[in-house]
Amino acid sequence: MQVRRIVLLTGAGISAESGLGTFRDRDGLWTRHRLEDVATPDGFRRNPVLVHDFYNRRRSDLKTASPNAAHLALARLEQEMIGAGGSVTIVTQNVDDLHERAGSKTVIHMHGELLSALCGACETRDRWEADLGVETECRRCGVVGTLRPDVVWFGEIPYHMTNIQRALAACDLFVAVGTSGEVYPAAGFVEMARVLGAATLELNLEPSSSARVFDAGRYGPATEIVPVWVAETLASVPH
Ligand code: APR
Repeated sequence: MQVRRIVLLTGAGISAESGLGTFRDRDGLWTRHRLEDVATPDGFRRNPVLVHDFYNRRRSDLKTASPNAAHLALARLEQEMIGAGGSVTIVTQNVDDLHERAGSKTVIHMHGELLSALCGACETRDRWEADLGVETECRRCGVVGTLRPDVVWFGEIPYHMTNIQRALAACDLFVAVGTSGEVYPAAGFVEMARVLGAATLELNLEPSSSARVFDAGRYGPATEIVPVWVAETLASVPH
């Protein structure tokens, strides 16, 4: 089958070898923090200092992390697929900017971004690289203490769902990379893509809980299996 339009869903596993934590692995973030305390609107209302501290640490970890071979391979895939008249869309659950720093251009952050702040008073978003706190002033409206990380918390609606559904309907190949398939709606994208006629592939360290839904799966560290898969895919696409 001719592959022309590829949609990739990436999760924390693709950034694991860049040194950024995953959530549900043995030493994952949810084994060290209660997600109810740091990744819900209630948690933020109850203790904004704790939540700011959690995201400030992750934002500063980003400064010492670099894109790895898997991010770079996906950026190459996009460039070469466009050159061959196709397209690559990355839908990422990650809030890091490693896909962009690797050179990927079409990246949809469905769970928001660490490097963005959202003001609860004027509802504007601002690129934000420094720490956020309860005493931080919004650059747009000047109100103090209403800025929050621009990250989608449990119980909130993921961003860009219309664009994501449009991309899933148009793709002929759906590939999930480094995600446990535990969190919806992202975990349901493989079924949606399959029903809409796409071939589906899982690239992960180990079979996820959605593994049986995929047509095929390859398992191992992303920095090893993603570049191999990209090279094989590009070799099969007429240029
Ligand atoms: N290479 C490839 N896959 C890996 C690697 C690696 N080096 N290391 C871990 N993985 C896999 C794990 O096997 C697991 O299936 O990555 C997946 C990480 O799963 P999670 O920690 O659940 O992360 P993710 O799927 O991105 O979580 C989804 O849950 O908490 C929310 O908002 C958060 O976006 C996150 C969402």
